[in-house]
Amino acid sequence: MDADPDGPPAGGEAVRSLLVLENVSQRFGGLLALDELSLSLKQGEVVGLIGPNGAGKTTFVNVVTGVLKPTSGVIVFDGHRIDGKRPDRVARRGVARTFQIVQPFPHLRVRENVAAAALFAGGVASQAEASRVADEHLAFCGLERDADKPAGSLSLAGRKRLELAKGLASKPKLLLLDEVNAGLNAAEIDEALRLIAAIAARGITLLLIEHLMKVVVQSCSRVLVLHQGRLIADGPTQEIMRDEDVIEAYLGRRYAEAQRGAGI
Ligand SMILES: Nc1ncnc2c1ncn2[C@@H]1O[C@H](COP(=O)(O)OP(=O)(O)OP(=O)(O)O)[C@@H](O)[C@H]1O
Ligand SMILES: [Mg+2]
Repeated sequence: MDADPDGPPAGGEAVRSLLVLENVSQRFGGLLALDELSLSLKQGEVVGLIGPNGAGKTTFVNVVTGVLKPTSGVIVFDGHRIDGKRPDRVARRGVARTFQIVQPFPHLRVRENVAAAALFAGGVASQAEASRVADEHLAFCGLERDADKPAGSLSLAGRKRLELAKGLASKPKLLLLDEVNAGLNAAEIDEALRLIAAIAARGITLLLIEHLMKVVVQSCSRVLVLHQGRLIADGPTQEIMRDEDVIEAYLGRRYAEAQRGAGI
């Protein structure tokens, strides 16, 4: 297949497809969690991925990061086939993710958790360098004062920021955020929004899996909607928010809340 259907960057602009999925399916026994999914993400985009519980959002992250080998289909990242490749290989190509269920090593210090992520993805030559990289990303995520604490002692908001620091420590080109704001209060979400904007400003391509429409509207220029493993909409955020199928599949029960939360 053509790994880069849009050709080389035009005039130096970041318009290249960084991630391309072609007809990707993931079957779990009788359940088709991803059904012939085709999409692409351009370099530098901030894209929202929404859909009801069980739509296949986390499964998408798992097939892209090598946790799952898709039942069929092709995944190309930065010009290389990555479907079925081991998670550490995919990480080394520049794909990082956060976990919906935050899972630090609770007895390791916060710094050690981030250093472990840096070592996993390669690019650091030693433990000492991994610790330096960890401190840099902890400061970026506002966790510098927590570096020596056991990871398990952090609040939920702290653990979510630790997930971001771990993701960034692998120096990703693409960062997949799986409900990084779930369970946070309004002030913590505003803080997370600033952090997401700062990550995007570094040129890292972002995919945000989000149930909070406020976050989607403020952060994402484009939204993908998954429903029962199928991509039912893909377009500019404001257009998607008005799409009848989306409203029926997903926004219906959340719409009033979303309008209140996002001021749309
Ligand atoms: N490892 C697995 N084995 C079997 N079934 C799975 C597995 N992982 C996910 N599923 C099923 O696949 C479907 C999609 O799950 P997935 O976790 O991707 O949904 P989701 O969109 O992330 O939902 P949520 O919003 O609740 O996080 C669900 O029906 C789920 O039960
Ligand atoms: Mg999920």
